[in-house]
Amino acid sequence: MKQYATHPDMRPDWTIDQKWEDYTAENHEVWRILYNRQHKILENRACDQFMHGLDELSITPHELPDFRRLSDMLYKKTRWTIVCVAGLIPGEAFHSHLAKRQFPITYWIRPKEKIDYLKEPDLFHDLYGHVPMLTDPVYADYIQEFGKGGVKATQLGAETQLTRLYWYTIEFGLMNTPKGIRIYGAGIMSSLTESIYSLESDIPNRIGFDLERMLRTRYKSNDLQQTYFVIDSFQQLMDATKPDFAPIYQRVKKQEELRPFYILPTDKVYSLGKANKN
Ligand code: PHE
Ligand code: FE
Repeated sequence: MKQYATHPDMRPDWTIDQKWEDYTAENHEVWRILYNRQHKILENRACDQFMHGLDELSITPHELPDFRRLSDMLYKKTRWTIVCVAGLIPGEAFHSHLAKRQFPITYWIRPKEKIDYLKEPDLFHDLYGHVPMLTDPVYADYIQEFGKGGVKATQLGAETQLTRLYWYTIEFGLMNTPKGIRIYGAGIMSSLTESIYSLESDIPNRIGFDLERMLRTRYKSNDLQQTYFVIDSFQQLMDATKPDFAPIYQRVKKQEELRPFYILPTDKVYSLGKANKN
């Protein structure tokens, strides 16, 4: 069972105040360590949109961002805002925030002694990984559409399928760019190991984006990914997800689910993983 956020001051929409003044010196230090470490690694690995986003929003290692300031700046770029939450919130609440262009960010950051071990998303993942991407206009619209799609998927009993789309794009997506394959997924951006592994390891598969194929593909939530999907552009993602998913869900549910490592003859293979045991 998932443990949802609890907090004495939580509002009905699951939001709380960040209380920036309450962060300790250690909290700011953890932010700085993680930021500097990732920044070095991501220089030639993250997509340009991510690096521009950090810049445009003045997200720096210097101190933990104040959500209100950050939210105002983001609003001016793409009309998204940031809302503060105490941790994991139910899918329904999460989707309805996204549908309103509100991105939920966890207020707490991991302790220094557990800097590389994380059971659930913290502020570093939520903010560093996700927020810079929201400065890209097409991507920003995609996340809102995803939120609306989430509300609908719940009604259609297709959360499992839609969550796979979230997982393989927003969290663990790669993009083929003129400079080579780059990272855009937030789960990769915030992970030291995975930001190198996702691009350089010969273990995972890297295959071209294919909506229905993705909706059939299971994933591992507590391990490095075994397959990454590579998009050509955010516009491709927007266009491919525009159609009504109702008939697509029906079709997909009749098909076999695919193991995280499985390769189909129709896959566009960028690199075939070494551990592939089809
Ligand atoms: N077009 C999808 C639907 O009808 C909604 C959606 C958009 C889902 C973008 C995911 C991403 O359900
Ligand atoms: Fe995330």
